[in-house]
Amino acid sequence: MTAPCVLLTGASGGIGLALCDALGALGARVWLLGRSEERLQAAAARLGEAGGEPRPMTADLGEPGAAAEVATRVLADGSGLDWAIQNAGIVETAPVGSAAADDAHARRLMQVNFHAPRELTQRLLPGLEASTRGQVLFVASSAALGGAPYVAGYAASKHALLGWARCAALDLRGRVGVQALCPHFVDSPMTDAGARFVADRTGRSLEAVKEEYARLNPSGTLVTPAEVASAALQLLQGERTGQVLELPGGGERVVVEPGIAPSASPPPK
Ligand SMILES: NC(=O)c1ccc[n+]([C@@H]2O[C@H](COP(=O)([O-])OP(=O)(O)OC[C@H]3O[C@@H](n4cnc5c(N)ncnc54)[C@H](OP(=O)(O)O)[C@@H]3O)[C@@H](O)[C@H]2O)c1
Repeated sequence: MTAPCVLLTGASGGIGLALCDALGALGARVWLLGRSEERLQAAAARLGEAGGEPRPMTADLGEPGAAAEVATRVLADGSGLDWAIQNAGIVETAPVGSAAADDAHARRLMQVNFHAPRELTQRLLPGLEASTRGQVLFVASSAALGGAPYVAGYAASKHALLGWARCAALDLRGRVGVQALCPHFVDSPMTDAGARFVADRTGRSLEAVKEEYARLNPSGTLVTPAEVASAALQLLQGERTGQVLELPGGGERVVVEPGIAPSASPPPK
């Protein structure tokens, strides 16, 4: 397989850096997206050390115009696009009924976790369709599969993302693969930030809160970023069938959505 051309959002976070390692090992040329230039440079170094070719690009996907700007730049570059890994995301803790769970909170989460990846996918379609292995991979969450306390805004945004991904997989079958991952709690800065929030308010240690998160995972352990990256590469290098995998930790992969039979005929455009 020739090295793929990839767009990776959230490249500088916990899962993003593990994806940099995995994509670098393939020699991939990767557009790396995030808000912080400094963190992106660290991601670029990591990808480069692993053997990849980094192209860092700062963008705030919380801004409604950002997806269009990113897509225009990637498509105008003309070097092709095989995989779009939509991994950037934010979480905010806000119990329904609390002052924090206001309109702005819900809209922020929907913008970054749903509208940005949806719009970016749509705008990148011409590039992805031009590739014989064009695929979109969404990093959703176990929060897309059920409810949990304090994260209604986050869960809603991830339910929206997964629902859209499932429909897009059907609409685009035969043209572009659309697949998704639903990890449970991952050992990453996002989880650390949530645990710190709880630790500060309860007087418990960060480690004790993280241990509790691990116990909440079906495996009893936190999912590692490397596990997510490995599952991502499995989907991206496999058949473009529209699979959804749940990652409970401990290296397990549960098929939530088996995907579309390869023989299914494409729907009318
Ligand atoms: N951690 C978990 O337990 C867990 C579980 C299931 C699913 N997930 C999902 O996995 C994905 C990655 O999570 P993670 O754990 O790796 O989180 P993380 O370490 O907090 O990384 C988040 C990444 O997204 C980028 N990002 C955040 N807001 C952005 C914005 N407005 N515009 C552009 N980039 C933005 C961050 O870069 P900058 O801050 O520099 O912008 C960073 O690269 C997310 O979609 C998350 O919802 C995480």
